[in-house]
Amino acid sequence: MPRVYKNYIGGKWVEAKSGRTFESCNPARTDEIIGVFQRSSAEDVDAAVRAAQAAFPAWSATPAPLRADIILQTGLLLEKHKDELAELETREMGKVLEEGRGDVQEGIDMAKYIAGEGRRMFGETVPSELRSKFAMLIRQPIGVCGLITPWNFPVAIPTWKLFPALVAGNTVLFKPAEDTPAAASRLVELFEQAGLPGGILNLVTGYGPEAGAPIVEDDRVKMLSFTGSSEVGREIAATAGRSLKKVMLELGGKNAQIVMPDANLDLALEGALWGAFGTTGQRCTATSRIILHTDIAGEFTRRFVDMARDLKVGYGIEPGVQVGPLINGDQLERVERYVEIGKQEGAGIVLGGNRLTGGEYDRGYFFAPTVFTGVTKDMRIAQEEIFGPVVAVMPVSCFDEAIEVANSTMYGLSSAIYTQDVNLSFRAIEALQAGITYVNAPTIGAEIQLPFGGWKATGNGHREAGTSAMKEFTEIKSVYVDYSGKLQRAQIDVETHAT
Ligand code: UN1
Repeated sequence: MPRVYKNYIGGKWVEAKSGRTFESCNPARTDEIIGVFQRSSAEDVDAAVRAAQAAFPAWSATPAPLRADIILQTGLLLEKHKDELAELETREMGKVLEEGRGDVQEGIDMAKYIAGEGRRMFGETVPSELRSKFAMLIRQPIGVCGLITPWNFPVAIPTWKLFPALVAGNTVLFKPAEDTPAAASRLVELFEQAGLPGGILNLVTGYGPEAGAPIVEDDRVKMLSFTGSSEVGREIAATAGRSLKKVMLELGGKNAQIVMPDANLDLALEGALWGAFGTTGQRCTATSRIILHTDIAGEFTRRFVDMARDLKVGYGIEPGVQVGPLINGDQLERVERYVEIGKQEGAGIVLGGNRLTGGEYDRGYFFAPTVFTGVTKDMRIAQEEIFGPVVAVMPVSCFDEAIEVANSTMYGLSSAIYTQDVNLSFRAIEALQAGITYVNAPTIGAEIQLPFGGWKATGNGHREAGTSAMKEFTEIKSVYVDYSGKLQRAQIDVETHAT
């Protein structure tokens, strides 16, 4: 019998008020049920908001170093349970075991980094223009935060949001993707084990329209952080705009790797392979376009296709498997649809393009690594996020054209250039319209100590992790303390050297 998981509200594990549940299954073995989860709705969200509001005064008044200590303890528990969580991720989400371990590690890194913020959370002090007057900026918690997370990084992305939100003194509602509620529930259990008092972190599982929308609509929720598609991001921003809550959005990508003729081709090939097919292309940072200078395009494409053909696709628990399944049937259909679109647009398929069937493959959502060639920048497969193991090869005749093609989508998350030329590297760093640029490294693999996020339709100007994390999850207050004992009028009573 699969385990029945519950919502976590006000420090108690409770069922959804409606009594309804849903199942999460293994995308590599669809007959394996990972667990049964609460199908929450507005009533459950309401209970969670009330619990978070009730917990706010005490938590926000707790010294930040004490709050941060719980984050550190949670991180240490993640470390202790790394193998177990990685395996759960592979079973629930499909990424290969090694990548599951990497996902959990990213959460551990985030815990260690953010725990230090409990003793930093820097404000600013600046001089005043007046005598005997002190001027400073301090950070304060926002209130109840709604955190809505995706399935592709079931542990890492929740930690990017939960850890800084909690260290800052906020209380939260956490609504994980319906495809990965087990990993999310385990993470919440670890918080509980680490000693987080009830009500501060509330977990509500379920579907976006039923359990996510009420969070977005709720006036008592003062900040929302969402990672997911640009379509949903737009809706969230529009709805949240009505209550003027703070909204942090991390949305789609259409990331390009540029390869110049002087590049170390072996390195560029390895980078492109990992960037395009790692996590089965289901990262918002995935390499979905490879922009090749014509001088090396032929050789690169031939070798790339040979390498991609050798990738071992299968159940990520098994040793040697490099590419796991897609997350669910809808995603599989979406990828199939885009392959058809690419063909109709006149792009050539030199590898894959089909669902994998037969034997073990019939038990999951497996899709062959797919390479399109002759892709031009206006094609939909060059513009739209596919979120699967599909990459578009696009030839260009010079550096300027490479940059123009790289910048020709509505997205701006990650970007990469392979070249040995230091001048070209810096020109690319300057010209690429993206929140992240790599030189001689693939588009995936951001580290948590630098801010993460993108330009243009990838977001709305916010960043996660790094030095941005605490800024995003705090309100700032500018404070003036006048200890002169008299009225001093700024901009009027200012001394000048002449007087
Ligand atoms: C995502 O795909 O949503 O940079 C996050 C990376 C990972 C995080 C990806 N560290 O590829």
